[in-house]
Amino acid sequence: MFRLSQTMRELITPTPLKPARKPAAPVVIWNLIRRCNLTCKHCYTTSTDINFPNELSTPEIYTVMDDLKAFKVPVLILSGGEPLLHPDIFAISRRAKDMGFYVALSTNGTKISAANIDEIAAINYQYIGVSLDGIKETHDQFRRVKGSFDQALHGIHLCLEKGIKVGLRFTLTQDNAHDFPALLQLMDDHDIDKFYLSHLNYGGRGNKNRKDDAHFSMTRDAMDLLFDTSYEWLKAGKDREFVTGNNDADAVYFLHWVERNFPDKVEHIQAKLEQWGGNASGVNVANIDNLGNVHPDTFWWHYDLGNVKERPFSEIWLDTTDPLMAGLKQHPRPLEGRCASCHYQAICNGNTRVRAAQTTGNFWAEDPGCYLTDSEIA
Ligand SMILES: C[S@@+](CC[C@H](N)C(=O)[O-])C[C@H]1O[C@@H](n2cnc3c(N)ncnc32)[C@H](O)[C@@H]1O
Ligand code: SF4
Repeated sequence: MFRLSQTMRELITPTPLKPARKPAAPVVIWNLIRRCNLTCKHCYTTSTDINFPNELSTPEIYTVMDDLKAFKVPVLILSGGEPLLHPDIFAISRRAKDMGFYVALSTNGTKISAANIDEIAAINYQYIGVSLDGIKETHDQFRRVKGSFDQALHGIHLCLEKGIKVGLRFTLTQDNAHDFPALLQLMDDHDIDKFYLSHLNYGGRGNKNRKDDAHFSMTRDAMDLLFDTSYEWLKAGKDREFVTGNNDADAVYFLHWVERNFPDKVEHIQAKLEQWGGNASGVNVANIDNLGNVHPDTFWWHYDLGNVKERPFSEIWLDTTDPLMAGLKQHPRPLEGRCASCHYQAICNGNTRVRAAQTTGNFWAEDPGCYLTDSEIA
């Protein structure tokens, strides 16, 4: 995940380069339930409105949570399917908070209502991310349920009224790139704290529908607008958070933006970006699915590292007998193709291995989602 606004602040108030912090354990994105009331076109969990068998029970979830805490996992992002359909979501969230995790909820927003907003507020989630994949019809068509945009926006309003930190999450594709400026406007109009622009990753229905991934020109236009907006708002004193995901080339593209706009700051920004180090799958990001299978990140559901019902997460995570995990943890990674010869490998770390694997069968092939030109990576 590329923290754009944090890096952008370095242009205005540079901070010294301190030694890189190495987190003891990864952030865990945990799909507690696969059931969902929506059937989005890009969904990596291929969720639908049925009960999926053999999911982790609540006592099993608690056993895993104890192991994660002992392993020093700092952050749990509770996700799904739709996590608010989990019958014990509030008990699970409360327990995670009581144990001292940073707890975020990743939701489609449609199940946030007047009936449960007090309970949601009482959990005191550090952050609630609500997906908006366009305005009105664009969102409803993408998420395949009419009215889901209005419901999600209603959920966002309820959170804002309670003072909950809420963010929009938007996955850019050919279907919705045209609505991106309007979503930024919506963010501004409602004074929403955070915007997460995600690129399409090739898992589940996202892989099935990968032909609808944004063209490079759309991605570049979207990133230009994101950088300009982030800078202008920062200058105007609007302290909002912008992050991007699933395309670490964003950081390199940003460095070129800095070269054009703030040539005297390039060296500093480059050093900061290299310290961040790009793609963190299998290192600082982990995933546990609804059945308890562990993956290097959420988009590797077709690749199991082990199951928490059989072995503790902490043991599975440290096991590098698996060739994918061994390569992800290697530095530099054993990259091939354009990624191998890229001048900015230290910033991007080879981007998203899932897209490479899904399109070629080779984990280490170049990422077809890299939208940088040959001269931009030379
Ligand atoms: C799987 S959903 C679960 C939480 C909730 N149901 C929701 O939609 O926000 C988590 C996030 O992953 C995003 N997502 C799903 N499939 C994706 C894909 N193939 N590429 C990138 N993001 C994806 C969704 O848009 C959502 O923001
Ligand atoms: S992306 Fe979220 S809302 Fe959409 S089908 Fe998947 S789990 Fe449900």
